[in-house]
Amino acid sequence: MKRYWKYVKPYLSAFIIGPIFMIAETIGEVVLPWLLSKIIDVGVLEGRGVLYIIAMGVTMIVTTLIMMAGGVGGAWFAIKASSGFANDLRKDLFGQIQRFSFANIDQFNTGSLITRLTNDITQIQNMIQMLLRMGLRAPGMLIGALIMAFSLNPKLALVILCVIPLLAVAIYFILKTGFPRFTTMQKKLDALNVTTQENLTNIRVVKSFVREQHEEDKFRKANTELKDSSIRAMNVVIFSFPVIIMATNITTLAVVWFGGNQIIADSMTPGILTAFVNYIVQILMSLMFVSFIILNGSRTLASEKRVREVLDTEIDLTDEDASHRNAAVQHGRIEFRGVYFKYYKNNEKWVLENINLVINPGETVGIIGSTGSGKSSLVQLIPRLYDADLGEVLVDGVNVKDYSLENLRSGVGIVLQKNVLFSGTIRENLKWGNEYASDEEMQRWAESAQAHGFISSFPNGYDTELGQGGVNVSGGQKQRLCIARALLKKPKILILDDSTSAVDTATEARIRESFRNELDGTTKIIIAQRISSVIDADRIIVLDDGKIAGMGTHEELMQSCEAYSEIYYSQTDRKVAAS
Ligand SMILES: Nc1ncnc2c1ncn2[C@@H]1O[C@H](COP(=O)(O)OP(=O)(O)OP(=O)(O)O)[C@@H](O)[C@H]1O
Ligand SMILES: [Mg+2]
Repeated sequence: MKRYWKYVKPYLSAFIIGPIFMIAETIGEVVLPWLLSKIIDVGVLEGRGVLYIIAMGVTMIVTTLIMMAGGVGGAWFAIKASSGFANDLRKDLFGQIQRFSFANIDQFNTGSLITRLTNDITQIQNMIQMLLRMGLRAPGMLIGALIMAFSLNPKLALVILCVIPLLAVAIYFILKTGFPRFTTMQKKLDALNVTTQENLTNIRVVKSFVREQHEEDKFRKANTELKDSSIRAMNVVIFSFPVIIMATNITTLAVVWFGGNQIIADSMTPGILTAFVNYIVQILMSLMFVSFIILNGSRTLASEKRVREVLDTEIDLTDEDASHRNAAVQHGRIEFRGVYFKYYKNNEKWVLENINLVINPGETVGIIGSTGSGKSSLVQLIPRLYDADLGEVLVDGVNVKDYSLENLRSGVGIVLQKNVLFSGTIRENLKWGNEYASDEEMQRWAESAQAHGFISSFPNGYDTELGQGGVNVSGGQKQRLCIARALLKKPKILILDDSTSAVDTATEARIRESFRNELDGTTKIIIAQRISSVIDADRIIVLDDGKIAGMGTHEELMQSCEAYSEIYYSQTDRKVAAS
């Protein structure tokens, strides 16, 4: 609970004033039946006269007005407090997700994160609002009405004491069944969101594989399960209302019966009986509210647990212990010293095994290897997208863990294999690389990435709007925009992970050419499937099953590395066969 204090603190006054307003409403509620009994008993039966009745009537109206003000004020502050709380919590949750490492992100489903950010927090928000409005009012009304009932007629009030235990048992069963059902409902909602999110992000793939029917079935299943679980959960709520209403009615009947006899026996007045019936209703209603709060509370606890899971996720990659916090990447020398790495720490097999490697400033290094050999994993260790499990990765002689993440990642530009653009203009997207870049600068680097040509052929040029993920440019154009975006960072180390796979060989050659001319001092690591993409690199590293199988220039590798020459012949043979 302590962790939530900081979300309460800024709205503390609303958290306190809200319930105070509700107390006004509660007191009014308890006083009204008593005033009514006075009108009947004193005003009418004792014949105190019209003036007394009017005075009492006016008092009742004033009380009602005060109650109304209390109700409105209470609701207003409750909304202010709960929305503020939710807003801050949501902000922190989002911030936490932004700090997640790649490995942290791998643990959660995007759909589930969205549910946690939206639905779960809204649930908490509603609960707080309900608590602020009902948390004092329901028990206050219960106690107030009980006190009034007992002070008006203790004997008759005993009737209530007979009903309360019965009702308590009913509420216990309602809660016992409600608890697990709400938890299930929330899980089903999660499943639906995961399905929807995955489908919507990949709708193009779904269509191209004509999997709409399959997806619809999948959605229908998740949707039906959500519906069924909601109905099961809501049944508990639906069932609880008639039970309480019935209890109210039976109790009222009993009170009227016994009270009627007391009136006949002249030991009670009709006014008191009227007030009494009102108090009975209040007592049972407040019991219903309390049970409703508890029921909703169980649902909220499930949501709170899911939010907490994200907040409590230990970010396994931080720069808190960085000893060279102010160091920036100056030269771009990279060294791997006995590096071992795997994604799933329980797996036996390493994804990267005993990697020893030095890349000098300004060098161009190609990385070649079959799919799944660990190329992407290797380069992702340099900007610390993942951390090595054993051994060290050093940049300019400093362990990457000792840089601040910001300095390290501004020094290392990486074009990821699965790269995306964001909705917005091309200009906005390129400015991710450097938000202060001038138009000339942008154009210069777009030219290097061979992107300026097609950008200027668009009617809106750099102001062309990109769809989500950059859907309205071709695959090769997207890759070139991603390269330009990385170039604008002017990094000391530039890593291209298969970033020209969709670019034709002539354009690719021009990109390599401009890299040679313009990125002299930049260390370049280029992962490629085609040997032609890296053939003129200073050095080529051959990865095989997570290990370095060879290293050297093209000629050297052709002589010494069988894995390399195999790839070379497989690619040239294909060309021969094709031509
Ligand atoms: N995020 C991840 N979580 C778990 N395992 C992963 C993850 N990314 C990659 N792997 C696994 O690690 C191994 C190396 O993958 P990596 O992406 O480094 O290969 P690659 O050489 O880049 O392949 P490709 O040429 O297809 O891009 C593979 O066995 C892959 O299944
Ligand atoms: Mg890869």
